[in-house]
Amino acid sequence: MKRIFSGIKPTGHLTLGNYLGAVRRWVEVDQHQADALFSVVDLHALTVEHDPARVRRLSRQAATLLLAAGLDPERCTVFVQSHVDEHARLSYLMECVATDGEMRRMIQYKEKSLRARESGESVRLSLLTYPALMAADILAYGTDEVPVGEDQTQHVELARDLAVRFNHRYGHVFTVPKATHPVVAARVMDLQDPRSKMGKSHENGAGIVYLLDDADTVRRKIMRAVTDSGREVVYDREAAPGVANLLDVLAAATGGNPIGLAGVYESYGSLKKDTAEAVVELLRPVRERHAELAADPAQVDEVLRAGAERARGMARPLVDRAYRAIGLLPAV
Ligand code: TYM
Repeated sequence: MKRIFSGIKPTGHLTLGNYLGAVRRWVEVDQHQADALFSVVDLHALTVEHDPARVRRLSRQAATLLLAAGLDPERCTVFVQSHVDEHARLSYLMECVATDGEMRRMIQYKEKSLRARESGESVRLSLLTYPALMAADILAYGTDEVPVGEDQTQHVELARDLAVRFNHRYGHVFTVPKATHPVVAARVMDLQDPRSKMGKSHENGAGIVYLLDDADTVRRKIMRAVTDSGREVVYDREAAPGVANLLDVLAAATGGNPIGLAGVYESYGSLKKDTAEAVVELLRPVRERHAELAADPAQVDEVLRAGAERARGMARPLVDRAYRAIGLLPAV
């Protein structure tokens, strides 16, 4: 059976981008057709300035939301990255296979380190080595497919390169993974700034729909979305990114196709209204289920405990094999 791994970073509240770009497919497709693991990758949240209590809170919230969205612990493994030591163990080997040039070429590193420097903050070394840890996350499980939004493609490509290089140098240990993306909404854009990605940690929350926003907040954010100067509703990501983004979101929420939907609308107002209602309905059950689960944290804890145990059992033998292959003396 195919092995799938993906992760989500607890650096902020989960967004509609996370849901449409990744989580929804994990729920609807991936957990049914593969041996799938989904992780709240908390170690990755320490690569930028963070508040310890907030990371802990967001980790629990992310895990609860994944279950609320429909990940079923009977079908897949849900766990927290730091509960499984193999991620950090393998990350070090990945750092010994990757080069610093490869790490510096990563777009996310360039953007985030620039932003930090501009605001006078220092850049953590772990921000540079982030993709080594991400490669370890993926490779530790013999993963075939990594379902992610488009922004993660470059990181998954690097994981592929590292797997190939390791196997070539030290003998075959790792499966070479590939990224998969949703057909629509692989890149949901910020509603106020439709040329940049809708991201958890964007400074201005007005352009971000969070999964836990109430219905009126969702409506308000979508009705105030920046649209383009033209009048006609056309699907053109370059010339009219605001409208294209709404069409993508509407198509993803209703199962339609964004180009076809463009022909249905005569005004931006009606497009926004339908998009808002579609998103409200899409998120309603997730929000309701989240409220139920949040009231029973022991249940979530038990899922995470069992998930980590299962994940450890899968990763340990493979990472041990990599340790031996690279030349480390086995402990007796
Ligand atoms: P993260 O936490 O930023 O995002 C989680 C998932 O959501 C997708 N996503 C989006 N998709 C479409 N439009 C958007 N605006 C949008 N924003 C986020 C992301 O592509 C991702 O699939 N480095 C990863 C976490 C990670 C990981 C891994 C993923 C760590 N190790 C191993 C896969 C495998 C990240 O920061 O995702």
